[in-house]
Amino acid sequence: MPEQVPAKVDMEKLVSLCRRRGFIFPSSEIYGGLSSCWDYGPLGVELKQNIKQAWWRAVVQERDDMVGLDASILMHPQTWEASGHLKGFSDPMVECKSCHLRWRVDDLKDNKCPSCGGEVTEPRLFNLMFKTFMGPVEEEANTVYLRPETAQGIFVNFQNVLNTTRKRLPFGIAQIGKAFRNEITTGNFIFRSREFEQMEIEFFVKPGTDQEWFDYWVTERLNWYVKLGVKRENLKLRQHAKDELAHYARECYDIDYLFPMGWSELEGIANRGDFDLVQHAKYSGKSLEYFDEETKEHFVPYIIEPSAGVDRSALAFLCDAYDEEPDKEEIRVLLRLHPSLAPIKIAVLPLSRRENLVKLAEEIYADLRQCWMVQYDDAQSIGRRYRRQDEIGTPFCVTVDFQSLEDEQVTIRERDTMNQIRVPISELKTTLAAKLSGEDLFVLPPGGQIWKEESKK
Ligand code: GAP
Repeated sequence: MPEQVPAKVDMEKLVSLCRRRGFIFPSSEIYGGLSSCWDYGPLGVELKQNIKQAWWRAVVQERDDMVGLDASILMHPQTWEASGHLKGFSDPMVECKSCHLRWRVDDLKDNKCPSCGGEVTEPRLFNLMFKTFMGPVEEEANTVYLRPETAQGIFVNFQNVLNTTRKRLPFGIAQIGKAFRNEITTGNFIFRSREFEQMEIEFFVKPGTDQEWFDYWVTERLNWYVKLGVKRENLKLRQHAKDELAHYARECYDIDYLFPMGWSELEGIANRGDFDLVQHAKYSGKSLEYFDEETKEHFVPYIIEPSAGVDRSALAFLCDAYDEEPDKEEIRVLLRLHPSLAPIKIAVLPLSRRENLVKLAEEIYADLRQCWMVQYDDAQSIGRRYRRQDEIGTPFCVTVDFQSLEDEQVTIRERDTMNQIRVPISELKTTLAAKLSGEDLFVLPPGGQIWKEESKK
């Protein structure tokens, strides 16, 4: 089947929107940027925060069988011997003898440099972990690594969590945090960067029940993206072939998303078996067994690991939300982001800068921002202000007009349909709360009325 590419978005447009509207900037841009590192601006940081909150809510807050953790980025160096990262976390690389660029062997064409066609060196293994030194002396004995995944912080805390929470199997530990990889092939914006954030779950189960839990988590994680508005047809599951499995995995599925450059991994769900706990028990000399009080058995739990990237999720949500539609002579660009992900939930827009109107609009703004991220915008025409909010994905605009001064009502405009209702200011907060939770715009509060129905124009 030919690869489909989402019709409305290409990476250039998205990068430009993100740059222009303050979602994402190249890192240290005033110095020319730093390759494959990105800074999240005022809107990007809100989007990322909302993604992390939605994940935490679904996998920790709303479940009895999960707890959270925040382990340090720097870990005891033996962690990486035990995990296999020191030995196995490397890509075979070659260097071009003419232009000195380095390439992954997988990326070579006819064993020549893809850039200048020059001759390349023999492959050498290149470890993807960033090294640094702990303490004042920069010597081999003081080497520590920036973690390349958050997972290991969970494995080494398995007994701590077990002892302090009295959780019984099956249960999981969730963690969100930065990870670092000295990636060779980067690019595609925030898809693959050298510093990124992961949202990882390590779910501990009794051996023999692992397949059931593996299937459960694959479905659960796929549904999470769909519930947050990602189109089902842009997601697919891909099983890893035996020769593709990571050294620790018994089975693995990727949730792939149809990014502008084609289908690529968004999240991986692996059955890690007992690999990690056995390895850490061996290297630390501490038992990481579990005692089942019912059966009086000691055993090492198996682990199911759903591992997602915050940045990659942000990219998928942005790609999926991007839309363009004809609007008179122009094109309306909008981000149809799920309300819980939208960086700004509501914009308050006074129709003019007249003093009495501004006073009322500012009062409303002050009240609403107690509950949500709200923007106040009084610059340029109302049409332009709506477009600005559409482009950053704000689900609702509240317009304060001259009539508001007399009837104490304001209009609420919905981003996706551009329909409008008019509601009493006294009902505004509860109405917005209901609409942000998914209630149809035309379900009206007491005293409310339909103001403008775009489809009936
Ligand atoms: N603990 C398992 C693990 O780290 P992985 O497939 O290497 O597995 C999991 O990474 C997820 O982390 C990926 O699906 C992706 O979303 C994200 N990720 C990995 N490397 C990344 C990178 N260089 N840039 C951005 N996200 C990355």
